[in-house]
Amino acid sequence: MNKNKKEKYYKELSEQIKALVSIKDPIHTNLGNISAAIKYKFNWFWVGFYKVEKQELILHAFQGPTACTRIGWKKGVCGKSWHEKKPIIVNDVSLFEGHIACNTASKSEIVFPIIDKDGNVKFILDIDHSEINAFSKNDIIWMHPIIETISTLI
Ligand code: SME
Repeated sequence: MNKNKKEKYYKELSEQIKALVSIKDPIHTNLGNISAAIKYKFNWFWVGFYKVEKQELILHAFQGPTACTRIGWKKGVCGKSWHEKKPIIVNDVSLFEGHIACNTASKSEIVFPIIDKDGNVKFILDIDHSEINAFSKNDIIWMHPIIETISTLI
């Protein structure tokens, strides 16, 4: 997908997600629909959330094949993003030390922490792609409004 088309898709997705969610709905309802909206907009391999529970991440709403249910503090890409409180792009998962391979079909990924108003990471949004080098810094920029919307729901 070319850069202009991808940016346009992100804008459409952001509007779609704003219209889809409600603070009155349960968190799994909102995050379930958000996972589906993101996955099917781009036809990505796996899109889902992990919830911070004490010292672990627990699999929450997602779309795609079955995935690892628990990830420890600082473990894998998700645990690192939780620890560092910032998005992480992995161009080739085989080169990322400590990568947790829930599915061997996943080749690259992008992970975002969802941070509450007190600065605590509450969820991790993990997106996996079946090809290497699928994501760039632009994805972080273009996803930002969506991450903001999600952070109003937690
Ligand atoms: N690859 C992730 C684990 C989650 S799955 O890809 C759904 C990681 O290394 O944290």
